Amino acid sequence: MSAHRPTAAIVGCGDIAHYHVRGYQLAGVETVAFVDPIAAARDQFLQEYGDGTDAVGYSDLEAMFAAGVIPDLISICAWHLLHAPLTVDAAKAGVKGIICEKPMAVGLGDADRMITACEAAGVKLAISHQRRFTLGWEKGRELVAAGHLGTVQFAVSKLGHGLLNCGTHAIDGVRFLLGDPVPQWVMGAVERTSGRFERDTPIEDGCLGLVHFADGSQLMIESDLDMEGATVGTFQIRGTEGMMEVSETHCRTLTAAGWQDHDLGIPRDQIDVIGGQANARQTRELLGWIDGDLDT
Ligand SMILES: NC(=O)c1ccc[n+]([C@@H]2O[C@H](COP(=O)([O-])OP(=O)(O)OC[C@H]3O[C@@H](n4cnc5c(N)ncnc54)[C@H](O)[C@@H]3O)[C@@H](O)[C@H]2O)c1
Repeated sequence: MSAHRPTAAIVGCGDIAHYHVRGYQLAGVETVAFVDPIAAARDQFLQEYGDGTDAVGYSDLEAMFAAGVIPDLISICAWHLLHAPLTVDAAKAGVKGIICEKPMAVGLGDADRMITACEAAGVKLAISHQRRFTLGWEKGRELVAAGHLGTVQFAVSKLGHGLLNCGTHAIDGVRFLLGDPVPQWVMGAVERTSGRFERDTPIEDGCLGLVHFADGSQLMIESDLDMEGATVGTFQIRGTEGMMEVSETHCRTLTAAGWQDHDLGIPRDQIDVIGGQANARQTRELLGWIDGDLDT
């Protein structure tokens, strides 16, 4: 894709879409279309980002494809229930890559349909877990891989705002830190008595879960049971030789040598957790995957 400047369309011009556009700008991708059924939403994006470009607004994906606009990349930034149908439509239309917001889908059936459609069309599908591109998590993953903690036995994540919302980042984050081990079995309990919803999807009031990975390590997830200290991206990891507390913006370990704060190269408040370099690097990695530089 290096011969021309890659293009992208935003589908769903709401909060998170701003971070995708800015990520595209930093990654050298031109956003050529803004898709949203609400005219005021797409017009706002055209005003904010369309100046000096040929970007056009469309009420839906069908209208954009009918106009002959097939961008290289598409960002699916609508709510969860729309992730599967919009991804499938985009894959069939022949885009090269899709960045779909988390959660990938609200069930395995939808997730499978997305993968099948993308594989059939040769489209690269990325789920926007952009926190993987933060320096704290990257340092943690590097130290775990180097055996700084010995053999990892256990990780703990305590979060709030629902498994489908923050939980997807947390589960993805622990897997990232541990080198993406494959889950072997899962045991858990969810409770829902309050009729709680998150972006029009019913979610649990509370959850406690244990994930056992094929390498023998385990993850304990506590969601919405006690909000004191609950965060999306801070984890405690215990190994045979030490412990780690890690977030997107810091990483410290306790080993026989004592506590150690690991230098991330830039101050904590300059690390982008959403948008900025996190989204830009995610975009660059997807472009590299499309170009064949990555084999995953
Ligand atoms: N990765 C992250 O850190 C992160 C952070 C926030 C939100 N998100 C995810 O982003 C998604 C969107 O959340 P948000 O807070 O930006 O929502 P939002 O309500 O701010 O924006 C959603 C937009 O989608 C539009 N829309 C509705 N139906 C559409 C359709 N058929 N086609 C195109 N657009 C349509 C709406 O009009 C709205 O403008 C959610 O799935 C959420 O989980 C991810």
